[in-house]
Amino acid sequence: MSTFTHHHNGLLLKTPLSGRSRVSVSKSRPGPFTVRMSLQETGPSVAVVGVTGAVGQEFLSVLQDRDFPFRSIKMLASKRSAGQNLKFLGENYVVEELTHDSFDGVEIALFSAGGSISKEFGPVAVERGTIVVDNSSAFRMQNDVPLVVPEVNPEAMEGIKVGNGKGALIANPNCSTIICLMAVTPLHRHSKVKRMVVSTYQAASGAGAAAMRELELQTQEVLEGKPPTTKIFSRQYAFNLFSHNSAVLSNGYNEEEMKLVKETRKIWSDNDVKVTATCIRVPVMRAHAESINLQFENQLDEDTAREILKKAPGLVVIDDRTANNFPTPLEVSNKDDVAVGRIRRDVSQEGNYGLDIFVCGDQIRKGAALNAVQIAEMLI
Ligand SMILES: NC(=O)c1ccc[n+]([C@@H]2O[C@H](COP(=O)([O-])OP(=O)(O)OC[C@H]3O[C@@H](n4cnc5c(N)ncnc54)[C@H](OP(=O)(O)O)[C@@H]3O)[C@@H](O)[C@H]2O)c1
Repeated sequence: MSTFTHHHNGLLLKTPLSGRSRVSVSKSRPGPFTVRMSLQETGPSVAVVGVTGAVGQEFLSVLQDRDFPFRSIKMLASKRSAGQNLKFLGENYVVEELTHDSFDGVEIALFSAGGSISKEFGPVAVERGTIVVDNSSAFRMQNDVPLVVPEVNPEAMEGIKVGNGKGALIANPNCSTIICLMAVTPLHRHSKVKRMVVSTYQAASGAGAAAMRELELQTQEVLEGKPPTTKIFSRQYAFNLFSHNSAVLSNGYNEEEMKLVKETRKIWSDNDVKVTATCIRVPVMRAHAESINLQFENQLDEDTAREILKKAPGLVVIDDRTANNFPTPLEVSNKDDVAVGRIRRDVSQEGNYGLDIFVCGDQIRKGAALNAVQIAEMLI
């Protein structure tokens, strides 16, 4: 049965992006944190690439929260951050500049430094025998690279293990895809999805630490009657919303929307499933929301759907019609589970062939770092 796991709630609003301070803050807490045994001789040697970023900092939080065993951990970022001190699980680390020699002796590397860095350094790491779990879109659609959500298609990475002496690439899907498929896959397994229409409401955190800072700054500026600083999105974000900032392609879809289409097909190994998406950035600090309309091959009534979702791992159902209480991004921020609600029969479809659901998930956590660390756990 799913439980709603809480993490770092005290820091939710004040410093939503300061994973760095979160890591050291939690270390100064007394109690179980002082006796954590993650540093283990038998664990793998790990590297975090892009450790100073929004996802990189969340990697550290998730590794800590899940007691991920490691023999050693290397903190890698750009030249800009090299030399910075970082405290993690009571140890002091110095951030090192990522170079082609960074991966000697590294068994698992968690990458979140952007697509171009992954393209350059991913193959270098694999060459040295490292298993790379990559958060960028660089390798996701490559045929020989598994694209994995552990609750959905763990079989895709079968045979890839630390200790095999062989490097490999594994791709973490796009955050909107992960959050969507966490909720839809259990229903798909039961009644086979024929068509899926997704509308997203995506948070600032999906665009990294700088975007989160800009939303905070703009909110202050607008409230003070000043013109908003528009460096990251080139338009006002606070008290506004706009079409996702990824490039618009020749078919009129933006890249984020086409990721939902293509990645769903790959993860489900189903080239026939029809998917369409509209992706929108909303001025929410952290955690994405998605409205999802489904058409099934076999009938599925809403009560059965609700029961299926209640039993699904990594999901929590928040679906209280009387109290008008359904998932919100705030509620899922800093939490592991994806929340699903508004589970209802689509009145525009005959019989029980259609459902509407509303899903919220912390995309830095399950949409990125948590999913990657779960993949890493399956490697050992
Ligand atoms: N945010 C999300 O929810 C999310 C979800 C899924 C996937 N991702 C993917 O994860 C990646 C990072 O996203 P983010 O949101 O964490 O971005 P971010 O906050 O902007 O962080 C970027 C990280 O990459 C590092 N970096 C930049 N250039 C580098 C270089 N030349 N060499 C080594 N490191 C370099 C940065 O180090 P410095 O501090 O030294 O600049 C920083 O640690 C992207 O590929 C993104 O698409 C993000």
